[in-house]
Amino acid sequence: MPGKRLPSLLSPARLRFAAARARQYAALKVRDPSIRWWQLTPSNPAMSRYAEALMPARDPVLAEMEALGEERRFPLIGPEVGRLLHQLALMIGARRVFELGSGFGYSAVWFARALPEGGEVHCTDGDPANARLAEGLLARAGVAEKVRFHVGDALEALAAVPGEFDIVFNDVDKHAYPDVVRAALPRLRPGGLLISDNTLWHGRVLGGGADDAETRGVLDHNRLLFADDAAVFTTLLPLRDGVTVALKR
Ligand SMILES: C[S@@+](CC[C@H](N)C(=O)[O-])C[C@H]1O[C@@H](n2cnc3c(N)ncnc32)[C@H](O)[C@@H]1O
Repeated sequence: MPGKRLPSLLSPARLRFAAARARQYAALKVRDPSIRWWQLTPSNPAMSRYAEALMPARDPVLAEMEALGEERRFPLIGPEVGRLLHQLALMIGARRVFELGSGFGYSAVWFARALPEGGEVHCTDGDPANARLAEGLLARAGVAEKVRFHVGDALEALAAVPGEFDIVFNDVDKHAYPDVVRAALPRLRPGGLLISDNTLWHGRVLGGGADDAETRGVLDHNRLLFADDAAVFTTLLPLRDGVTVALKR
């Protein structure tokens, strides 16, 4: 019909985009015939920058923590994963969270702000300097009363704190990831989540060639979490460096 606008699905821009994806897919398929269309998920800095540009600005304390992380090249989860943690905690009505590997408390702030009054985030870190730094930041973020900080080995702290958790968040050294799966799952309530960061491990899990303890740890962790759907239902989100979310049945 003359003058009729094309439906957006058939717009020239959409067609160009679809054609570019098809070319990318075809090129990848030549190199690796097992690639699937839905695996074209370019988790890359440009994507993170785009997602972060959409987000509301963080409050001054989170912004200060991000600046500190940048200055020290400290591996924070960043706002993309922070928002995911906050959202998941809200979605399951979490009240008790246990973090393995808290640094100076950035991920804990995202969790704590999603919990109701009386909620608890147990933080752990092996470096007492991180705990000292966290103290003031958590207070200024207005969440100090919800946070308990345990200095020392994270798995030992998990064993020492009694009770069930709604969420266990895993961000320790990667060689320990399989031990975290074994220790954390029995501590979750049914319907609780084990969330692990860096489960794409900067792409080192993809090639099959890396043979270091950290990569082996992440590979074993991922295999364990996908081994039994009836016990634990897991997805690997290609967000930033990969986040697995495992739901305990
Ligand atoms: C990736 S950083 C944590 C970042 C933090 N989750 C955030 O985004 O705000 C990992 C931290 O875990 C600590 N860590 C690593 N392995 C540990 C372990 N087995 N026990 C206790 N702390 C550990 C390190 O000292 C480091 O501060």
